[in-house]
Amino acid sequence: MTEKKGKYYITTPIYYPSSNLHIGHTYCTVMADAMARFKRLSGYDVRFLTGTDEHGQKIQTIAKEQGVTPQEYVDKIVGGIKDLWKTMEISYDDFIRTTEPRHVERVQKIFMQLYEKGDIYKGEYEGMYCTPCESFWTESQLVDGKCPDCGRPVEKAKEEAYFFRLSKYQDRLLDLFENNPEFLQPDTRRNEMISFVKQGLEDLCISRSTFDWGIPVPIDEKHVIYVWLDALTNYITALGYPEDPELYEKYWPVNVHLVGKEIVRFHTIIWPAMLMSMEQPLPKQVLGHGWLLLEGGKMSKSKGNVVDPVKLIERYGIDALKYFLLREYTFGQDGVFTNEVMLKRMNYDLANDLGNLVSRTVSMIEKYNGGFVPDASGEEDPTDKDLKAIATSAADKVEAHMDKFEFNLALEEIWVAVRRANKYIDENTPWVLAKDEAGKPRLDTVLHNLAETLRIVSVLIYPFMHTTSNEIRKQLGLWYADVAWEDAFTFEMMQGEQVKKGNPIFPRLDIEKELEELEALKGGSEENIPLELKDPIEYDDFDKLDLRVGTILSAEKHPKADKLLVFQVQMGTEKRQIISGVAQYFKPEECVGKKVVVVANLKPRKLRGLESKGMLLFADNVVDGKTRYEFVTTVAEDGNPVS
Ligand code: MSP
Repeated sequence: MTEKKGKYYITTPIYYPSSNLHIGHTYCTVMADAMARFKRLSGYDVRFLTGTDEHGQKIQTIAKEQGVTPQEYVDKIVGGIKDLWKTMEISYDDFIRTTEPRHVERVQKIFMQLYEKGDIYKGEYEGMYCTPCESFWTESQLVDGKCPDCGRPVEKAKEEAYFFRLSKYQDRLLDLFENNPEFLQPDTRRNEMISFVKQGLEDLCISRSTFDWGIPVPIDEKHVIYVWLDALTNYITALGYPEDPELYEKYWPVNVHLVGKEIVRFHTIIWPAMLMSMEQPLPKQVLGHGWLLLEGGKMSKSKGNVVDPVKLIERYGIDALKYFLLREYTFGQDGVFTNEVMLKRMNYDLANDLGNLVSRTVSMIEKYNGGFVPDASGEEDPTDKDLKAIATSAADKVEAHMDKFEFNLALEEIWVAVRRANKYIDENTPWVLAKDEAGKPRLDTVLHNLAETLRIVSVLIYPFMHTTSNEIRKQLGLWYADVAWEDAFTFEMMQGEQVKKGNPIFPRLDIEKELEELEALKGGSEENIPLELKDPIEYDDFDKLDLRVGTILSAEKHPKADKLLVFQVQMGTEKRQIISGVAQYFKPEECVGKKVVVVANLKPRKLRGLESKGMLLFADNVVDGKTRYEFVTTVAEDGNPVS
């Protein structure tokens, strides 16, 4: 039995149930799960928390659009999130929903605590507001005048609101970053936060009166508590804080808050400041991971380019997906997700390296020793020594990497042992040893050593792929023994177990075929996700446009601008020159003869020396994160108004 090493509390962010989760969210939860399983296996008393962040204007708006109450809306999505974690066997100990009474009541108590301390006051907030992100920004925080988080337009907004005295904690926060390098990792994020705090912290607006889907401010019913106070406190309300101290005293402070890079700021500035005000211990560590991107940029539901983990699990299984996510990406950095990279990992590392080792080892024990793991005998040769040294030293290396959340390097260490064992088979050629009786003692040693190595591998992969670990142990005849981390350090444990060959643990994939089928799967989404659009306009604004249909007579590149095409367009009786910035989307020759909608009353202007009278309308579509322009041709006869 592994000795207890103390407690370990780990959390994921609580996800917004604005729509189903995608592979990016899965990535974070898979990392937290692997760490929780690793710590449990190495003897810690682990508590693993995840959940959902269910309040806010965005959810209220979507629910309204769908004709349901916000609660009905989130119940459905959260049901799907819980199903996903169940399918993936995510080993969380608690799942907190911010709409649960236990959370609502405790957040109100925390609000009062901060208020009574004098750290919450009523004021008036004026700032630039990003509605999708529900965030106010100062002018200096905007990037090109737009929201620094999502890049969308912001608008001036003013409201009466409650504020938290964040500025009061500026010096203590700076101390925290400067004196505890471990508090926030990786270092790059730490440096960003230090300069952010040094620029000066403004008090934080923590209530809203423009929507009501939130926790009411206990002293003022017109206001709801703004999402970050509501959300961040989940990490302690789930432990019973403030009124039920048992779990709280046992597990707080948290060992690790695992969060995506864009919410590091909230977790390392706002959250510690709130805890300072509450006079509670601070998180031991916040780790900011990178994003999974697609080749065209960030995954987002409204861009219609998300990767659905459910589809991948249905095709390849949970363990293959988890392995890929943990092995492929470097913690803290962004990574690009492509089907091809995923399929190659699955084929090379899982089907070839691990799958082959399992099936070769078990088959040879069945074939050459009646299905029982033989004992080793005789002198060790250099290949035995090497294999043994690599297999028994892997656990230490895995531990060292896991301490730094280097999942990819931890798995790489395990695969060094897997590949060494495959090479060991080729070096010792058991099929040759089996040819005559004299080779039997050596053959026994080789088979024994392979079984031992595989046993060690089954322990090492357990935190990352417990189903595969169990399957390997079943095939090795180890079904009777619990997985114990300390067993990964010793070699001589197998004693005549009876092996039993099963199905290949990871079948080989035909990559070309899979790529085609994954591509085909992309289209058929039944979901109805609102698009990201500009602000609505009034009918009168639209009515100012005089829209006509024209036929493109000719198109050529603008002599002085690479992005522009110069079109000659026939509209009824009139022929005009119109210039459009679509050179990167269309070849001039493919435009000729096409019909196109023209904004005919747009004031003429000169573009790089040539006159343009009007504007051609193309439609844009975002596919795989890339904007594509298309002709709109299903319109009226030449010259007739379209509307
Ligand atoms: N509700 C807040 C978190 C509050 S925690 C007190 C939130 N929710 S979220 O659903 O938008 O994002 C949750 C987490 O998912 C974030 O850590 C975010 O970084 C992560 N990811 C979302 N898309 C991602 C990728 N494409 N790749 C990796 N992680 C991604 O923020």
